[in-house]
Amino acid sequence: MSSLFTPFRLKDAELRNRIVVSPMCQYSAENGLINDWHRVHLAGLARGGAALVIAEATAVSPEGRITPGCAGIWNDEQGEAWRGAVAAIKAAGAVPGIQIAHAGRKASANRPWEGDDHIAADDPRGWDTIAPSAIAFGGGLSKVPKAMDTAEIDRVKADFVAAARRARDAGFEWLELHFAHGYLAQSFFSTWSNKREDAYGGSFDGRARFLLETLAAVREVWPENLPLTARFGVTEFDGSDDLEEGIEMVRRFKAGGLDFIDVSIGFSTQSANIPWGPNFMAPIAARVRRETGLPVTTSWFISDPAGANALVAEEKVDLVSLGRPLLADPHWPYKAAIELGVDKAAWTLPAPYAHWLERYRAA
Ligand SMILES: Cc1cc2nc3c(=O)[nH]c(=O)nc-3n(C[C@H](O)[C@H](O)[C@H](O)COP(=O)(O)O)c2cc1C
Repeated sequence: MSSLFTPFRLKDAELRNRIVVSPMCQYSAENGLINDWHRVHLAGLARGGAALVIAEATAVSPEGRITPGCAGIWNDEQGEAWRGAVAAIKAAGAVPGIQIAHAGRKASANRPWEGDDHIAADDPRGWDTIAPSAIAFGGGLSKVPKAMDTAEIDRVKADFVAAARRARDAGFEWLELHFAHGYLAQSFFSTWSNKREDAYGGSFDGRARFLLETLAAVREVWPENLPLTARFGVTEFDGSDDLEEGIEMVRRFKAGGLDFIDVSIGFSTQSANIPWGPNFMAPIAARVRRETGLPVTTSWFISDPAGANALVAEEKVDLVSLGRPLLADPHWPYKAAIELGVDKAAWTLPAPYAHWLERYRAA
């Protein structure tokens, strides 16, 4: 049996293999409300054979959206709308997950295909942004955010809690906190974006506080029997030795009750020099796994089945996460099973497809 197609269990989540659909914004919601496109998109990815489908960065408040088209879960109507997506993912045999998020200083942006930059100040579609400090990301994202006071920090934590409750009530079985990619939580952790002099800045403990308090608050409402996970940028690739701190942060997450970590990139500065290439995050994920003892996944340019299989076989990661390769071909898992010589490869798909495809291949 190939390692990539070995089942994986985390608490009560039973994954049929090690392939995860990485969360991917569709920028296609209205007022945060998802629609048939989201259900088609997510169901199609589940149907393709992945074991866990994580729905896109879903905003915990209107101002936490990256763009006006981003999905939300800050009201009950939105929560209800997610039920259909959850049911469709489950019908195709995958575990339904959701990433809950606040975009912080990167919010109020145009959709990627409309510029990917901040919405102009005089455009009524835009809104005021918040962040740990009044420092813009720069480049096309140059809008200066308001530095949050402690009341705002408390409100955003409460928004994460309310979002987690709604995700639970919608039937999601895997929750991912978006603590990565230069959005609000990551920007509290990063010295590039957090220059606060109060309890939420300065030292490692100060910069870790917002993330750990949010985790602790969500832990209270997310069911103990289901995975509570996070995506976190362990390094900025800015030439510093920040990976040590990143790994220490993951240790603190573990102590705070986190079950699993998606090892990613900080994206807090334009001065990063990221060594893009196939599987380039895997050695870093492996180090996080080894040094923290938490099960991990990572993504970024994992697209070759043999390479993906080796990452699991060599225990570098527990799960592989794929984004664009699955957009290009939702049946990547099925094709990977054939390439890896999995016995009865078609049975990695739901039975109504598997039966016919197995016979078709044998013919
Ligand atoms: C269209 C698109 C939307 C994305 N949206 C999100 C998101 O909502 N949350 C997130 O953490 N990452 C997001 N990402 C990053 C992906 O989850 C993934 O990490 C990245 O695409 C690298 O994996 P890949 O090389 O397999 O595509 C997005 C990527 C794409 C292409």
